[in-house]
Amino acid sequence: MPVATRIEEVHKEMTALAEAAPTSQDLMHGVCKLLHERMLKYNWVGFYMLEPGARPPMLVLGAFLGAMTPHTRIPLNQGICGAAASSGQTIVVDDVSKDPRYLACSLETKSEIVVPVFVKGRVVGELDIDSHFCAAFAVEDQQLVQYCAMLVGRKLEKSIR
Ligand code: SME
Repeated sequence: MPVATRIEEVHKEMTALAEAAPTSQDLMHGVCKLLHERMLKYNWVGFYMLEPGARPPMLVLGAFLGAMTPHTRIPLNQGICGAAASSGQTIVVDDVSKDPRYLACSLETKSEIVVPVFVKGRVVGELDIDSHFCAAFAVEDQQLVQYCAMLVGRKLEKSIR
């Protein structure tokens, strides 16, 4: 199946998942499962969420699928995860060995994408994906991952209304 077709399918399944998921936590688990199972180069998929009230701010590992990572708590001044959360920008790293910010999770990881999750315009966490392949995250992947992060933000927003 061409990658574009797969992405389109997964996009549709995500929409259905977001509608069916009873809670944001269920949705985050579902996003990890769907992306990990269907997107063959997404070898580690997980959420880091900002710990409520923590000073200094701290990202804490939430739902994830893939090998256990040593980085269960990441301050905002560390890692690609910290950079994405503090800047509120999507970060794509095609070759992690060339990025000095990179915190290693697995020796097999070659590329990474981190997309912030927003609630009411504020970063509350992020969706982090690692790949065993260099430059695994093309523009279409970025759009898909940003769509997933947006769905989670929207679900979280509904739950606090
Ligand atoms: N590589 C991330 C750390 C998280 S692990 O990849 C799961 C980083 O540089 O922030």
